[in-house]
Amino acid sequence: MNRKIVNRDIATFRGDVAVLVPAAGSGLRLGGGVPKALRELDGRSLLSHAISRLTAAPSVGLIVVAAPPHLVAETAQMITAETAADAGTAAGAEVEIVVVAGGATRQESVALALAAVPEGLDIILVHDAARALTPSGLVESVAAAVREGHGAVIPALAVVDTVKRVSAADAVLGTVDRSELRAVQTPQGFRRSILVKAHADAVDQHTDDAGMVERLGLAVHCVPGSEYALKITRPIDLILAEALLRAETA
Ligand code: C5P
Repeated sequence: MNRKIVNRDIATFRGDVAVLVPAAGSGLRLGGGVPKALRELDGRSLLSHAISRLTAAPSVGLIVVAAPPHLVAETAQMITAETAADAGTAAGAEVEIVVVAGGATRQESVALALAAVPEGLDIILVHDAARALTPSGLVESVAAAVREGHGAVIPALAVVDTVKRVSAADAVLGTVDRSELRAVQTPQGFRRSILVKAHADAVDQHTDDAGMVERLGLAVHCVPGSEYALKITRPIDLILAEALLRAETA
């Protein structure tokens, strides 16, 4: 799993899409690790759930996971053990999964994972492991929008709550026009050259990769997101995710 892939003939990859999964935050749960960012859901890590769903998307040929530098081997072993049952599913061929050492920030981890993608794979998705139940159909629709010519693509959902701007002293400053707002998810998809330029030109830290593309003044296109792509971070998200998993298998 952990072999160097830089010289591999891209024609031998199952699909034309590479997915980068930054998972190098200190919350990675591995043995004695801190069970924060990557909690367990139904007996396996959120990272493994996310990888299973990515490998079920026929376009995905390569997944590069950025792990904490001291846990690269353990992360690779965990993925192998926890996704063993998925091997050979989907389009028949196995997806290549590579684990690299991440960096000091999410952005750096994405850049390091990007550097591990061989030339020739031109559609790159960036995906949060915490969005563990993201349907493979959403992965495909983001990839398809990039393939159709959009340089940067994000899944987005309408905001259902009324949103207000509030001062530090809890005074309401105003109501934001909800019709213009979207809650943004991952995977976010990019033409490789655009993601490379966005990272090369980034001067400050962004919470998502599309933000760096916006900063370049380039267009970012929205496709419909999915309720299943929720970010599993708070205890209530875990309860919801367990219920969604049960509903899926019922
Ligand atoms: O800490 P935060 O919630 O912003 O992390 C978002 C994602 O970025 C997590 O999946 C985390 O593992 C990842 N990350 C990373 N490298 C870091 C810090 C965070 O890959 N140095």
